Amino acid sequence: MSTPAGYQPPSVAVATALPKRNVDSSVLIVPVVTAGDDEEAKAQVVASPYLDAEAVGAIEVALKALGAKGGSEQVTRVVAPSLPVSSVLAVGLGKNRDSWSAETIRRAAGVAARSLTGVETVFTTLSDLDLEAAVEGLILGAYRFTDFRSAKSAPKDRGLRKITALTPDTKSPTKETAARAEAIASAVAIARDFVNTPPSHLFPAEFANRAKALGEASGLEVEVLDEKTLAKEGYGGVVGVGKGSSRPPRLVRLTHKGGKGKKPKKVALVGKGITFDTGGISIKPAANMHHMTSDMGGAAAVIATVVLAARQQLPVDVIATVPMAENMPSSTAQRPGDVLTQYGGITVEVLNTDAEGRLVLADAIVRACEDGPDYLIETSTLTGAQTVALGTRTPGVMGSEEFRDRVAEISQGVGENGWAMPLPEELKDDLKSTVADLANVSGSRYAGMLVAGTYLREFVADGVQWAHIDVAAPAYNSSGPWGYTPKGGTGVPTRTMFAVLEDICENG
Ligand code: BES
Ligand code: MN
Ligand code: ZN
Repeated sequence: MSTPAGYQPPSVAVATALPKRNVDSSVLIVPVVTAGDDEEAKAQVVASPYLDAEAVGAIEVALKALGAKGGSEQVTRVVAPSLPVSSVLAVGLGKNRDSWSAETIRRAAGVAARSLTGVETVFTTLSDLDLEAAVEGLILGAYRFTDFRSAKSAPKDRGLRKITALTPDTKSPTKETAARAEAIASAVAIARDFVNTPPSHLFPAEFANRAKALGEASGLEVEVLDEKTLAKEGYGGVVGVGKGSSRPPRLVRLTHKGGKGKKPKKVALVGKGITFDTGGISIKPAANMHHMTSDMGGAAAVIATVVLAARQQLPVDVIATVPMAENMPSSTAQRPGDVLTQYGGITVEVLNTDAEGRLVLADAIVRACEDGPDYLIETSTLTGAQTVALGTRTPGVMGSEEFRDRVAEISQGVGENGWAMPLPEELKDDLKSTVADLANVSGSRYAGMLVAGTYLREFVADGVQWAHIDVAAPAYNSSGPWGYTPKGGTGVPTRTMFAVLEDICENG
């Protein structure tokens, strides 16, 4: 099967001025704020050296005529005859301030990009406020997934093709900043594309092939374990979960050797790659079962992150271990009550075949720890309980307390908003089995997200700082688009993991 195109991100340029001549069907995106109170409130263009008083005046008059007030994420399109673009898109930042957070700019850029369907060329002065956030938000917001649309429903335009960010100078580090934003947003798009590819087309062997092609193209070392090797080497969790499907499991390892010096830091990444989760014999209800196309969101983000680490030549060793399986009910499927042996020897009574993520992850975590990493970040669409506890946009972060808090804080910083959660000691007792070392579910209906984390903790080697990020809902947006987040795959927590890798490079 040939790999479909996926999202083709726009190119990014930096410039110190708008072009002299008119650029056909182009749009200039400018930030506006709310000036004045209530009745008097009106949209005011954020001052920029790239807009003269005449242009600003014309834009503000037009916005006033349309009743635009510069409210947060409000977009208004106006014509500005004195400017060399076809129209201007004003995007609101809300009340005037001295400065804005990167996330505010990223979201404003995302909203602007989403409102510009049919436009291929944009200029922006949002970059005046935060170049990196503006470029990232534009690329993330312009994302679309058209691989499975025939001429019957394919969009007529090619999507956003070119972004020109206006900046005081085009030399470094300006250029590097724009390139970095482009690289990060493109990696998020890789993760989104994987999540958005339907389970008919993305099954374990195909997922492994695509990860391998992508990894090798980025200079990673790639190893793929097929079902025979997995069985021979004792990956009982991956084999057990995968055995109900006619499409056998895989385990992919992608290595970026970037570490410098005598003892470079080593980071293990692990991501859940269930290409579809029916629940297995403990089958899920039909309502919304199709959302389980997102059950490889952790794997997608981990693959995107290690590829990004290689592309950005991060000075750290990163080894991704990605178990891939399809959880299906059939006469060859594992049964509730079966006992399997996880990689490394711990035995597990599978009381519920729908708690399959932790089974494939436990094998992968033990394997990842054999490499002797300093840190291990594992992420997965692991529990419905994540959504009950934290809602659809807030990943739960568990693990070694210090590293957990560091990951959560960094996640807040990049706008993915991970939140630290505890792993209370007493939950371990709920995972006792009458026949095996552990049961894969607890008898209690409480704290499901924390119970899953508690299960995983049993498999992390001593001395490894680890973080578990449950992105059950945050990886997949099943309601309307918002900010720079489209419907479907979101790419979360790719930006968190990349930022953690950068932080480790800087601070150890
Ligand atoms: N993949 C699901 C978790 C999930 C649910 C992800 C909703 C995204 C949206 C996972 O494999 C699962 O089924 N978990 C069970 C665990 C339970 C059986 C202990 C759950 O959360 O119900
Ligand atoms: Mn499940
Ligand atoms: Zn699952």
